[in-house]
Amino acid sequence: MDGTRNELKQRADYTHKFNIKTGRHGWLRLTPAYSVKVVEEIVESYGSGLSILDPFCGTGTTALSAAYHGHQAATTDINPFLVWLANAKTTNYSDADILEAEQAGRIALDLAVREEVEPVAEPPIHKIERWWSERVRRFLCHLKAAIADTAGHSGPTADLLNMAFCRTLIKLSAAAFNHQSMSFKDSVQCAFDLNPEAGSVFQDDLAFVLSGARENPLGDACVVLGDARSLQSHLDDEFDVVVTSPPYANRMSYIRELRPYMYWLGYLANGRDAAELDWTAIGGTWGVATSRLSDWQSSGNHWTPRDLERTLESISSSDNKNGALLSNYVAKYCEDMSAHFCSLTDVLRPGARIHYIVGNSTFYGVLVSTEQVYANILKEYGFTDIHVRAIRKRNSKKELIEFDVSATWPGKPRQ
Ligand SMILES: C[S@@+](CC[C@H](N)C(=O)[O-])C[C@H]1O[C@@H](n2cnc3c(N)ncnc32)[C@H](O)[C@@H]1O
Repeated sequence: MDGTRNELKQRADYTHKFNIKTGRHGWLRLTPAYSVKVVEEIVESYGSGLSILDPFCGTGTTALSAAYHGHQAATTDINPFLVWLANAKTTNYSDADILEAEQAGRIALDLAVREEVEPVAEPPIHKIERWWSERVRRFLCHLKAAIADTAGHSGPTADLLNMAFCRTLIKLSAAAFNHQSMSFKDSVQCAFDLNPEAGSVFQDDLAFVLSGARENPLGDACVVLGDARSLQSHLDDEFDVVVTSPPYANRMSYIRELRPYMYWLGYLANGRDAAELDWTAIGGTWGVATSRLSDWQSSGNHWTPRDLERTLESISSSDNKNGALLSNYVAKYCEDMSAHFCSLTDVLRPGARIHYIVGNSTFYGVLVSTEQVYANILKEYGFTDIHVRAIRKRNSKKELIEFDVSATWPGKPRQ
């Protein structure tokens, strides 16, 4: 492994925090998003005019960064809300689009503040009163309806207004971001209630979104709803470079993190749908996924390293009632990632370079060296020039580290 662990720092500039003030990259926050700086350092180390893939799109950091550098980008994600988000972030907006969004935003806000529109129903999010006070919910229901009235449901104006709406709904909520996962502030008394100027939050958010919209990328980005375990059925092209951060084996649920946006924009209608979607995501364990995991059995269709068995046994036999369940969780995660790497070989050009930014994790004191699991799987599938480079410490625990696992795809051997 390259890099000395003792010298590693936490490097906030290598996390999502760097993106907040970086134009479109800062439109919406997702804690597990990686830093545009990490992506740019990698992308800039290659040539120009490349075809760049991110199979785990998230908020679209790679696709947007690659497009800004004039490359052709493609990206897939299993979550339709993130596909909408990345599409909206990578679109080219004309001056006319921006002017129209500015005007529509003013009209929508006026309608909402005066309550001159039939409000939408409150979204069926569990314990909604923990998220927003009654007054805020009432405002958001009117604003959402007013946006649909003035901008419709799709197209550039609707996208820009809904982006601002997402920023506003989270600012006016009791969501707190001082942990790895989203949690709640102590009181639901939040910005809006303290701010007598009802619409100023939305106004500021729309101004921020529109200033990013004015900065159009040079290259194109194609954002596709699809499963990274079957890339060949979603993508027609072949790629020169992959830069991505896949889910980590850390039980983070992206659906859980994104549920306020997903419920308000209509991507989720109930908890069952949320759990089903999480089960299709690699590493998801929210709701029903937990009970399914206890019965999960390997399909045996995808190669996983033999020394993983020892790690799985240690987790399973740890002194905790969930040991067996979490051992299954790690086993399924590794098998899913193996399925992904196998499918990746169908969409790479010979000589393609890949970079996976991934963190390791611990379960009851047992270290899961995800970076080594990746390196072993890549070797098995014929990748060469495999390097594991430590790039930052994830938190104060010295063993939790983020790595760049890179490799070259030499092409399929001739039959
Ligand atoms: C760590 S996040 C990516 C964050 C991204 N790099 C960013 O900057 O926002 C991992 C992403 O993988 C997606 N994902 C999980 N399972 C997937 C699958 N089977 N196919 C495609 N995407 C998947 C999740 O929805 C999530 O958006």
